[in-house]
Amino acid sequence: MDEKVNFRIARRKRALELCGDPKRPDQVISKEAYISPEFAKLEAEKLWPKVWQIVCRLEELPNVGDFTEYTIVHDSIIVTRNAPGTLKAYFNVCQHRARKLVEGSGNTHHFFCVNHGWRWNLEGQCTRMVDEEDWESVRKENVPLPEVKVDTWGGWVFINMDPNAEPLLDYLAPVPEYLAPYELDRMRMTWHKSIRADCNWKTMLDAFDEQYHVPTVHHEAAPYTDVYAVSYKHGKHSHFGITPDTKPVGVKPHLTEEESAAEREPRRSIMELMELLQGGLMAMWSPRMYEEAKHLKDLPEGMSHNEVYAALVERVKKRAAKEGTGGATITFEQMARAGSLWHVFPNHSFLPTNDGAIAYRFRPNRDDPHSMVVDLWGLAHFPAGQEPKVKHEHWDRWEESTAPWLLKQDYSNVELVHAGMRSRGISDLLVDRVQEGNIYNYHQTLRQYLYGDEDKKVRK
Ligand code: FES
Ligand SMILES: [Fe+2]
Repeated sequence: MDEKVNFRIARRKRALELCGDPKRPDQVISKEAYISPEFAKLEAEKLWPKVWQIVCRLEELPNVGDFTEYTIVHDSIIVTRNAPGTLKAYFNVCQHRARKLVEGSGNTHHFFCVNHGWRWNLEGQCTRMVDEEDWESVRKENVPLPEVKVDTWGGWVFINMDPNAEPLLDYLAPVPEYLAPYELDRMRMTWHKSIRADCNWKTMLDAFDEQYHVPTVHHEAAPYTDVYAVSYKHGKHSHFGITPDTKPVGVKPHLTEEESAAEREPRRSIMELMELLQGGLMAMWSPRMYEEAKHLKDLPEGMSHNEVYAALVERVKKRAAKEGTGGATITFEQMARAGSLWHVFPNHSFLPTNDGAIAYRFRPNRDDPHSMVVDLWGLAHFPAGQEPKVKHEHWDRWEESTAPWLLKQDYSNVELVHAGMRSRGISDLLVDRVQEGNIYNYHQTLRQYLYGDEDKKVRK
């Protein structure tokens, strides 16, 4: 067998051993999970009302009276800052005859129904029933807004519609422990966009749950970075991270470090990669990390890829300390342990780095299995007072959006993946057990919520 094939077999073996799952079998998922209206209906009944879901960043609700609306399938939920330091969440529905109370976000003293004029305060108590005397037994005290569980972690606000739900931190474990060194709670938004797309919410999620597609879909990045990664299962959550065989940042994947350095020397390679990511993602790293990357030429000649990258990270760390911002203090050991991308079940994924992150939320568009909304947040550490003022932008078509170009490559690709799933020419999807394991893992958990049984139905 040729040497390269031997290497790839050994690499796969080492990767699966590393994540503690050496016997992981090939993985198959029925396409029905993506295109069947019955499956979407089951998700609406058994998944969404039971799980913790991200609503917004805490910084989106800084003042008493700030509120934001979160919609999932046919439920709309208001999250509001009812008092300094506390949040409340309610179903966004008038208790008279069901009109939705608020749309979008804003600041208010009370939630007012424009149908007949009933009103609720920020504590969810009804403060006004028009012509209350007309009712015999219904009184304001009997019609509070129904409460929804709300909690926070990592600077995110979460809700759960299930009154018996486990506490958020128990649900998220072990994610907070792995990610603590990133100080996500101290990051602030650089931008926030929402885009509807013609595909299932999971078809879009899958494109952000693996790096296997990167050399093909994002071929511009291929000469600069080896994306071989292995997926780790953490109960219902997953992450993927590099393996001992993944080449250092900046090395062309099919070359040795020396060959790659001879073709494009390390300082230039890492500088060009950072330039490409700055323009193509506008996130993941902070503006200061991208700025520092432009000056890598100042470093002495002859440094290896790892040395150049470490020097860049160190420069940003020093700058963060000087600016007193926090952030950028994570060590390489902590980063290696925390991996590259996390999938928090069911619909949140993000890529944290030493000084920033890009985060995604994937939602069905009502109960249509062929339509979804992806919400995106660029996050970074900033010196106090220098955080950008961010306006949430929405689009119905990704082509018209200001989404960065690397993400547009994903959107155009994903809609065609979903179109293909509706073909009679395919019944099951094949999932790479090393690099795409996050996808199989969340399908197992999803089946558990829907059917109370994971393996049999995910596999053929
Ligand atoms: S429906 Fe809200 S006041 Fe009548
Ligand atoms: Fe992608």
